Amino acid sequence: MREGPIPDEAAVPSTAPIGTHLLPDTSSIADGELSVGGVAVSEIAAEFGTPVFIYDESHLRARAKEAVKAFGGGAAYATKAFLCKAIARLVASEGMQVDVSTGGELDVVLAAGVSPNQVVFHGNNKSEPELESMLRQGVGRIVVDSFDEIERLRALRPGGETSLRASLRVTPGVNAHTHEFVMTGQEDSKFGFSAASGAATRALEALRQIPWLTVDGVHAHIGSQIFLLEAFEEEVAILGPFLKNNGLSELSIGGGLGVAYLNDEQAPSIVEWAQTIEKACRDAGIPDSVEVGAEPGRAIVATAGMTCYRVGTMKSLPGIRTYVAVDGGMSDNPRPVLYGSGYEAFMPTRADSERPMPVRIVGKHCESGDVLVSDARVPAELSVGDLVATPVTGAYGYSMASNYNRLPRPAVVFVESGSARVVIRREQTDDLLRLEP
Ligand code: LLP
Repeated sequence: MREGPIPDEAAVPSTAPIGTHLLPDTSSIADGELSVGGVAVSEIAAEFGTPVFIYDESHLRARAKEAVKAFGGGAAYATKAFLCKAIARLVASEGMQVDVSTGGELDVVLAAGVSPNQVVFHGNNKSEPELESMLRQGVGRIVVDSFDEIERLRALRPGGETSLRASLRVTPGVNAHTHEFVMTGQEDSKFGFSAASGAATRALEALRQIPWLTVDGVHAHIGSQIFLLEAFEEEVAILGPFLKNNGLSELSIGGGLGVAYLNDEQAPSIVEWAQTIEKACRDAGIPDSVEVGAEPGRAIVATAGMTCYRVGTMKSLPGIRTYVAVDGGMSDNPRPVLYGSGYEAFMPTRADSERPMPVRIVGKHCESGDVLVSDARVPAELSVGDLVATPVTGAYGYSMASNYNRLPRPAVVFVESGSARVVIRREQTDDLLRLEP
């Protein structure tokens, strides 16, 4: 299934070579061989094994810079898209704030040496230990999500001064036209306080009774993988009056900017997104003094990353289809199974080849639903032992990976200026057993 808008012509998978807009910025192809960051993908596979997640570090940096240029100090990276110490350091060093939504994400970000002041703490069900940890560590901002959370906060009595700022998570009642599992802005949502029902106003009043909090912001997140920027305009049009009526000085529109996954998809850039927001803020009469921010996850990391697999078996069923089984599957990319997400596939050693051969790319898990690319087109030469890669797996791939069937999670490698380094090592049998007495 495609996640972007449906083009006019019927959506048939592209047999053209893999679109370069789906590849990381520093990609280059010589004699068919794809290199990223100056390192051949086949060399990375040989050195670090497969499956392997490969990220272009300079692409990551460029997108973080773009976000900071577009949204200034209000740009926050949503770590749920992909988190390890290396990416946390990278985005923080480019001046992004870092958005976490669990104590676990907070711990990883702080272990990376990110200043707690740069951290924004989210979550629809923050536990007492998470709230205590957040306060103890000096997190910069909390985004408050429920009346129960307000009660929990009220019961906390931090010793001494705290400089914790708070935003209120509001559900603006906007339909973001994306997959229902990742739509969050509509009234019927587990997240935040409804603006329309008055719950948000009541929550703000309650929150302002807590003397040690500075309540100055409003936050909304309407969904993910959004291509139509109008949804963000609607969001700002609803949040604007709330912000002005309540004298708030910070507005975060959340994340959600879509990216292209398929050859014929094109997504708006971070800059276009920011321009739309800026205009919507002007139209809503939001004063210039208000800091307007956003929390992109996918738009920072998705296209920077790809997954490289090795083909283990091929089975041709005449009149039905050809199955190509690779050495990973739904454990390293559950998105096709969860959301019906579409991906392209290509051979990194024939990256500029036409892809006439229809195949279904599947993993090695024990269920038929273990599909990575349901209707892929690959070069006719693809054979057992070859490498096959899926681009645009940098967001919500590794971060949602599992050990289903006790498959060890792949290695994650960053490449830049001709060298490759492991930022998360491949799991081993010991890792699979380490929780057991
Ligand atoms: N801020 C908040 C409060 C969020 O809940 C999210 C994503 C983001 C920012 C970042 O959104 P992004 O810019 O990455 O769209 N697993 C799904 C996506 C779930 C997104 C959840 N929240 C997928 O693979 O499509």
